[in-house]
Amino acid sequence: MAQPFRFGFIGAGFIAKFQARALRQIRGVDLAAVYALKGAEELSAFAKENGLGECTVCASIAEVCNQCDAIAIFAPNFARVEVVQAIVDAVKGGAKLKGLLCEKPLGRTVAEARKLVALAKETGLPTAYLENQLHMKPIKVQMAQLAPQQKAMGPIALARSSEEHAGPHEGWFWDPTRQGGGVLSDMGCHSIACAWYILTPLGKPLTFLEPVEVSAEVALLKWGLPKYRAKLLERMGVDYTKVPAEDFATGMVTFRNPETGQLVKAQFTSSWMYDKQGLRLYMDGLGPGYAFEVNSLQSPLNIFIGDEAADAVADAETALEKATASRGLLVIEPNEADLYGYVDELEEARDAFLAGRDGLANWEYGLEITKLVQAAYMAAERKRSLDLTDPKVQEDLETYVSLIAQGRAAEQLHVR
Ligand SMILES: NC(=O)c1ccc[n+]([C@@H]2O[C@H](COP(=O)([O-])OP(=O)(O)OC[C@H]3O[C@@H](n4cnc5c(N)ncnc54)[C@H](O)[C@@H]3O)[C@@H](O)[C@H]2O)c1
Repeated sequence: MAQPFRFGFIGAGFIAKFQARALRQIRGVDLAAVYALKGAEELSAFAKENGLGECTVCASIAEVCNQCDAIAIFAPNFARVEVVQAIVDAVKGGAKLKGLLCEKPLGRTVAEARKLVALAKETGLPTAYLENQLHMKPIKVQMAQLAPQQKAMGPIALARSSEEHAGPHEGWFWDPTRQGGGVLSDMGCHSIACAWYILTPLGKPLTFLEPVEVSAEVALLKWGLPKYRAKLLERMGVDYTKVPAEDFATGMVTFRNPETGQLVKAQFTSSWMYDKQGLRLYMDGLGPGYAFEVNSLQSPLNIFIGDEAADAVADAETALEKATASRGLLVIEPNEADLYGYVDELEEARDAFLAGRDGLANWEYGLEITKLVQAAYMAAERKRSLDLTDPKVQEDLETYVSLIAQGRAAEQLHVR
């Protein structure tokens, strides 16, 4: 029997656990090693219990590199450069890796993303930028299903993509100086990437459509209110009177088809103030004479728990990511790791690395997404749409750090 393909994880928190659940659904893979500041023992125990191999808890990144075929970076955004530098050193020291995977966002700024791309180049290894929404089965299936319509009628002209929940689980996400911004940095990257992909004519590369213009607004609608600021301070240790970040962002990216000149639009929305059942991913696409719609809160499974039985619910998050309620009529997603695309993204990266090539989305693509996210911050700050074909705008983006990421946005976000 062929040897299993060995993944090594850096980080053992929220996404590493999700990805371990995804690995369980792929044939011929092990979670061979993990290094993290916290949670590594627990993740290793999960791997052992779930047939994912021995999962050695390592004392350094180099040790993980020496025990796996591909290394996946699931550490926080602020640790990207130091983690990737350690991987580069390990590869230069002889570690035999086949590929590097990195979670979104690739970088917190364009300069940081560019640095990460350059570091990866030093290894000469294939890369995968983990944008799970490109791999969601509903997105892939609509593409296949609507291929004849696209061929006959022309491509999708408007894509709308949003990701919304009631707010992240760790303090560092809420701190714009560590995370890189607020919800736009955290989740706008997903929605912009997914909408760009939806608009891309079938068979064309991910960056075929050229981004020509971006407009955006950011706002602090819930977590800046005194009552919620106090909760944030107590639960997450961040003070939004002093260093706030946006909890809502929306905008539009216009793309140009370089072959036909057609302009198409991606409308994105991200929020941490979505007080409904839990995480909702919503995407739709409108072509001439055809359309599709995805809503991750429309599950085939609902359960009901009345007040009398409410004690029976132990952990609402086993039902739905970022669940906000544990009684009443509840939406259950039975297999979120699969629904959100984690299974398919890891499998695709493994197959790509075995063939010696980049995953569907590589780190250069991650850099392009970082650029669009940062352009959205710049447009919101300047209160006007940006012409992305203007060399001056491109030059400004290279060194841009948003006011929000600098921790200087109390005025921009109207915190009272
Ligand atoms: N694709 C998605 O849907 C998705 C969802 C959640 C998070 N993410 C991304 O995944 C990354 C991790 O997020 P998370 O929610 O798992 O965070 P988390 O805080 O839950 O976990 C972070 C893990 O990294 C470890 N860590 C921290 N600093 C480290 C360092 N310097 N070296 C090694 N390990 C370190 C921590 O001990 C912990 O185990 C972030 O970049 C985030 O944006 C992506």
